[in-house]
Amino acid sequence: MEISENKQKLFSAVQPSGAITIGNYIGAIRNFAALQDRYDCIYAVADLHAITVRQDPAALRKNTLALLALFIACGIDPQKSVLFVQSHVPAHCELTWVLNTITYPGELSRMTQFKDKSARHADNVNMGLMDYPVLMVSDILLYQAACVPVGEDQKQHLELTRDLAVRFNNRYGPTFTVPEPYILKDSGARVMSLADPSRKMSKSDENANAFVTMTDDKDTIVRKFKRAVTDSGSEVRYDPAAKPGISNLLTIYHAFTGKSIADCEKEFAGKGYGDFKLAVGEAVADAVAPIRAEQARLLADKAYLQEVMKGGRERAARLAYRTLAKVYRKVGLYMGE
Ligand code: TRP
Repeated sequence: MEISENKQKLFSAVQPSGAITIGNYIGAIRNFAALQDRYDCIYAVADLHAITVRQDPAALRKNTLALLALFIACGIDPQKSVLFVQSHVPAHCELTWVLNTITYPGELSRMTQFKDKSARHADNVNMGLMDYPVLMVSDILLYQAACVPVGEDQKQHLELTRDLAVRFNNRYGPTFTVPEPYILKDSGARVMSLADPSRKMSKSDENANAFVTMTDDKDTIVRKFKRAVTDSGSEVRYDPAAKPGISNLLTIYHAFTGKSIADCEKEFAGKGYGDFKLAVGEAVADAVAPIRAEQARLLADKAYLQEVMKGGRERAARLAYRTLAKVYRKVGLYMGE
């Protein structure tokens, strides 16, 4: 790794829409702490994104605080990084408005995630859902982030971020850093549903046995893995096409133990699916337990969390408004003298 005087900025965010699954953890959050040494990190709880699908207001408030606590429990240091709640910094909405004026409807209606979500929430296809990527672009560009760690599923949104940054810069002169995606290790190996390994693990699944969350206790986790759908045959072998269920469990076991897939296969050679599922459940439960305990401890200390939010809001706003003022000036909004 090269040493640089001025660390580059890194931005990422997670939506507080329900419980955080082990998929979100492996695909995003658990990598965030380690990045703090290499980058100046800015991490947000993306509550404005969450409301693009219907949320229960009381649950959203609770989940926002829970996600903030989870970030800290996973090693994000609010002194080192800027940790904040997206809606606390109005600049995100303000920049979204300006960027909307250089975004074409076709760019947004073509997005895979928009099409998927429109199909899944057919009764609530709203403008916010369509504009979701532009809000995400604003999140990133406001902080002049050079690097954006995301999972595979967000790659298209990163492409849009680059397109809009370049488009704005060409039209109005150099303003935004054009960010690079940083596709996270293991995020390509997506964590699939335990009930239907052809689908991504999702906290919005109607079947609670299909996903494991960071707040599940040990018994629940072990039980869910015991019930996980497996495949015909009896061999623990990685073969996503022929053995999607077992391959998913191998991916999870690998992610939580750090052992290579090949070593995992060896470990369970000659053993049955039952032993394997129990081992996966225990490995996950053991990894989740201390994080869950720390999160609970933090949630009991509301004063501390309020202080973190306040500090994060101030530091984020300072950075964000520097960019927004530049943008307003460039597009010709009259700022007074
Ligand atoms: N859309 C992202 C997700 O669901 C969350 C997010 C919001 C985000 N704003 C962002 C991720 C900016 C990276 C950068 O995973």
